[in-house]
Amino acid sequence: MTDPDASGHRVPTSDDIEVSTYLEIAREKSGERPTLSDEPPAAGPETVLVLDFGSQYSMLIARRIRECHVYCEIVPYNAPWGEVAHLNLKGFVLSGGPASVYAQGAPLAPSYIFEKGLPVLGICYGMQLLAHQLGGRVSPGEKHEYGHTVIHQAEPTELFSDLPPAIPVWMSHGDQITQMPSGFRSLAYSDNAPVAVMGNDHGMLGLQFHPEVVHTPQGKQIIENFLYRVCGCRGDWTAANFVSESIDRISEQVGTGHVICALSGGVDSAVAATLVHRAVGDQLTCIFVNNGLLRREEPERVLDTFRRNLKMNLIYVDATDRFLQALAGVTDPETKRHLVGEEFIRVFEEEAGKLGHVDFMVQGTTYPDVIESASSPTGDGAAAKIKTHHNVGGLPSEMKLGLIEPLRYLFKDEVRQVGLAVELPEEMVFRQPFPGPGLSIRIIGEVTPEKLETLRACDWVVMNEIKKAKLYRDLWQSFAVLTDSRSVGVMGDFRTYGHVVALRLVTAEDAMTADWARLPYDLLARISSRMVNEVPGVNRVVYDITSKPPGTIEWE
Ligand code: XMP
Repeated sequence: MTDPDASGHRVPTSDDIEVSTYLEIAREKSGERPTLSDEPPAAGPETVLVLDFGSQYSMLIARRIRECHVYCEIVPYNAPWGEVAHLNLKGFVLSGGPASVYAQGAPLAPSYIFEKGLPVLGICYGMQLLAHQLGGRVSPGEKHEYGHTVIHQAEPTELFSDLPPAIPVWMSHGDQITQMPSGFRSLAYSDNAPVAVMGNDHGMLGLQFHPEVVHTPQGKQIIENFLYRVCGCRGDWTAANFVSESIDRISEQVGTGHVICALSGGVDSAVAATLVHRAVGDQLTCIFVNNGLLRREEPERVLDTFRRNLKMNLIYVDATDRFLQALAGVTDPETKRHLVGEEFIRVFEEEAGKLGHVDFMVQGTTYPDVIESASSPTGDGAAAKIKTHHNVGGLPSEMKLGLIEPLRYLFKDEVRQVGLAVELPEEMVFRQPFPGPGLSIRIIGEVTPEKLETLRACDWVVMNEIKKAKLYRDLWQSFAVLTDSRSVGVMGDFRTYGHVVALRLVTAEDAMTADWARLPYDLLARISSRMVNEVPGVNRVVYDITSKPPGTIEWE
């Protein structure tokens, strides 16, 4: 899915996944291999299984299902029954995919799809598979159908409950069904496809179009109809239910054991730690390493939230001097990343070592990381995620820790919902991503305490103005970069020669692509004027108008 080298050497992660990854790598180094699905959720929630045939939209299908408050998991198309039998299955979705069902070696649906008597929704390639594997015929279409089209209902079906007779949809297919398997009827047609939707009396349904994309405006309703009316789901996958189930599961897993968790200030580790704390209270000890590369007031806020408000056992380590010493004289961005990663592991190791016996470690891994790891060519998530950090040290080998990953099956927006449900401050729940190496990769060239202070002051102005303009949540990230250029200016009667600061404010759905934010000029003017006036040594502000790709979000 994502090749970390495709965009150079950058780590395509965001937020505090960095901390998890350092720890994962360290565990690997000490001879432990992370397994991908060792800890499935309890059989509890009603589940729909999405079989992935290689569609670019599989993740989107899963998100839409979750938005309908039904739990779902994505598995590879050939997942054996043994791996999914523990789930409380209510139905299957077969995703689209790039193959043609009649091509040699085309991926087929496993036999349990047809044998379990559960509803099946085949989408595009998934629909063609239903036809192909149940004895119908699929042929290359005379006209390929891509983009907007309208389908017309041919007969009433629960799938189209509450929908008009003609529905605009998004098509993307070359092949089409020329003969339906026995027992199936055409439920809708389009100008180019006599069978745009088909179904039988046993809840097997096929859609030639993509209900999961925004270009099918009523797609969510169609998916909801499938889940509620065909599969009979109740829609009880809610943040509150997730919290209570997680707490039970974690208590059971931990028993009387001791747990550690590295907090970063980001939402993932914060939510993970809070769930574990609710489950086992003082058996949890959190470690928060201040690497000296954080933003203004950040360490104080973390301490305030976790120690003062949530009353967690929290070890706070101010390791600023160690990190800054390690970084002294270093200008290469990748070397900065390595050094910060290594130092983090050392500090964490030392602190964890002082705690005596520890049984478990909490990690804030989320579902996109799991899916990405599972589908990476090597299946080796940790290595794929963080190539640049392979030289970090290992945790002491006597520390054989069990893993607790309460967010392993959640998307980012679900993590936030859970964060709200456990009453974390909104400011933390909706925090913009912040890279693990912190401000060190936002200072071009050598990192010094003076430059850190300058950048902190600039960052403060950006945050302050963006929040005042109520744009904080609309932007993926908003920050300042201290460039290594100086420029001439004039203040009063004096000539100045000061820092050039670049503003980087981007919109994005995920960090893989991004666009520079079209901010109102007045806002840009305010930020610029405040920075130059309030931050000593800064006399010029420029706005970065590069999208990603070809630029990256961070400058280093
Ligand atoms: P780029 O700059 O590659 O950033 O477009 C994509 C996202 O990842 C974050 N980022 C990092 N996060 N460690 C991290 O934890 C890193 O080394 C790192 N580099 C970039 C960046 O802030 C953005 O959200």
